[in-house]
Amino acid sequence: MAYTIPKLTDYSAAALEKAAAELLSASDQEWQEVRNEADWKALRDRWMARKNGILTLVNDLWLKPAPKEAKRDVGQRVNEIKAQVERDVEKGRGLAKNYPILHECFSSSVDITLPGLRRPIGAEHPVVKTTNEMVRVFQKLGYSVADGPVVETDYYNFEALNFPPNHPARDTQDTLFIAGQQGKAQRERLLLRTHTSPVQIRTMEKMRPPIRIVIPGTVHRNDPPDASHSPMFHQIEGLAVDTNITFGDLKGTLDHAMKEFFGSNVKTSFRPSFFPFTEPSAEMFVSCFICGGSGKRGMDPCRPCKQTGWIEILGCGMVDPNVFEFVKDNGYDPKKVSGFAFGMGADRIALLKYGVDDLQLFFQGDVRFLGQFA
Ligand code: DAH
Repeated sequence: MAYTIPKLTDYSAAALEKAAAELLSASDQEWQEVRNEADWKALRDRWMARKNGILTLVNDLWLKPAPKEAKRDVGQRVNEIKAQVERDVEKGRGLAKNYPILHECFSSSVDITLPGLRRPIGAEHPVVKTTNEMVRVFQKLGYSVADGPVVETDYYNFEALNFPPNHPARDTQDTLFIAGQQGKAQRERLLLRTHTSPVQIRTMEKMRPPIRIVIPGTVHRNDPPDASHSPMFHQIEGLAVDTNITFGDLKGTLDHAMKEFFGSNVKTSFRPSFFPFTEPSAEMFVSCFICGGSGKRGMDPCRPCKQTGWIEILGCGMVDPNVFEFVKDNGYDPKKVSGFAFGMGADRIALLKYGVDDLQLFFQGDVRFLGQFA
């Protein structure tokens, strides 16, 4: 039976409570039965119409005739009723909109023999995978993993690595500077780190020798993107400091690490180079793991090694005593300790390892490309 609003004869609190509860439960129920816009409009008129709508009748039949003593209570109750009915109207509006859609979903029959929805599982990005594999190689040798901030100060990125202010070596690592830093002393100015080497200093400030660390991380340079450059890329840095570290340790460690990573038949070759923070410095090459060092693939030239049979993998060297000077107070007296360091590009190694010819593919986020490494 549809609800009709009664006249009130008894204005006691209990009677009022009962009448209000009946009205609200009717409202609640009626709005729940809305199925479409037309239902909703009809119901809105039934409850809200100025003329003879239920809310108007509440005024006319309950409030107006109420005896003076009861007016306040009735008035308050009527306000509560109006607020609740208005909320029901809104609920009904939502239902009118959604019911047809929900109905469509639930009434179509479900074929339980169809395969379920498969949620594809993610996989490691090839650069992350390469990084993790390389880091593992050094962890097995007893190295621990360190990291540091990507937004770095001029001091850690350059000065403490023996790139003095205005030194031309800085030109090889142009970067992106944080704006509005002119008011600060040069060494405090912020920039995006150009290499993971600043973490060498940060770690030596915190840990006394001996140390052996690997530092994977993101770095930036002011290079326009192309097949082999990106303004953002990844490095893996290493540092070993102790009382008697020699160039022989450097060669032995890196030769072992490359055999672990690329396969036991690769050879390594060290060629003189320059970095401000190492002396002497070298570039390390591995024999081409694609053509086996011959420079040829069948009758064709081997492209990855440019037919040389060697691929450049990293920069390395003996830590320059000038670098130790910056952390001397934490036990790194250059007369007492020595060390070696190295740094390599994780993206470049991943390119070579997976035979990818365009670095940009790593950063475009195309799942069709990335899925091939899963
Ligand atoms: N930081 C150098 C670069 O980004 C790479 C490097 C070279 C790191 C020699 C080292 C090193 O630790 O000893 O070009």
